Amino acid sequence: MAVVPYKDQNENKKSQVAQMFNNIAGKYDFLNHFLSAGIDIIWRKKAVKLLAPSNPKIMLDIATGTGDFAIEALSLNPDNIIGVDISEGMMAVGREKLKRRGLDKKIELLYGDSEDLPFEDNTFDAITVAFGVRNFENLPKGLSEMYRVLKPGGTAVVLEFSKPKAFPMKQLYQFYFKNILPVVGKFVSKDRAAYTYLPESVQAFPDGQEFINIYQQVGFKSTKWHSLTFGISSIYTGKK
Ligand SMILES: C[S@@+](CC[C@H](N)C(=O)[O-])C[C@H]1O[C@@H](n2cnc3c(N)ncnc32)[C@H](O)[C@@H]1O
Repeated sequence: MAVVPYKDQNENKKSQVAQMFNNIAGKYDFLNHFLSAGIDIIWRKKAVKLLAPSNPKIMLDIATGTGDFAIEALSLNPDNIIGVDISEGMMAVGREKLKRRGLDKKIELLYGDSEDLPFEDNTFDAITVAFGVRNFENLPKGLSEMYRVLKPGGTAVVLEFSKPKAFPMKQLYQFYFKNILPVVGKFVSKDRAAYTYLPESVQAFPDGQEFINIYQQVGFKSTKWHSLTFGISSIYTGKK
């Protein structure tokens, strides 16, 4: 059974996820940095750096949300970046941010579902996804679509929460994720379920080697997995 935000609703995971991100869009950036004590910014920087050797020019950021990963990817000096997402609310916040910072010529945010990407085969030099794949309704489908639109020789970088395995980080993390994060998240975002869905979806997500197995099954080669901050997050890279 898929983990969904609103268990009393009948809509599929995709529409519930879009609804949830529309609800919390205005508070998303603040909560992200506050609840992670800013570590999410360091994780995005590390993930983007892994793409530097390939010097990508045309990039796609999937599940772009308010565009933070796409903005970080500008450090690679690409010609342009397209960000896609299913939450118009998140992209509205993102578009405002891009305009304010004068980045709206370099980064374009478009409606797009990771499981049915509106692009030709072999279009992008590099693809990024941060904290998105856990929300996909059909993970193998989303990853195969990434593979399809990536150019041969291109690299995909996935940043996602994972589960720390060792004492005492495992216990501390579980306490924080189950007891503190949902309370603060609900209070600030006013969404009853979003920050309960977060730990539940991380728990259900196939992290580490399990993720690498799926990554390889859809075709990615030279796959690598980097664990960050005691395993709280992981970066997965793969080539076409
Ligand atoms: C946790 S946010 C991450 C946003 C951004 N990448 C970041 O690093 O802050 C997850 C985003 O994934 C988007 N998302 C979930 N399922 C998606 C799908 N099937 N296709 C495209 N975007 C999706 C959500 O709408 C949401 O904006």
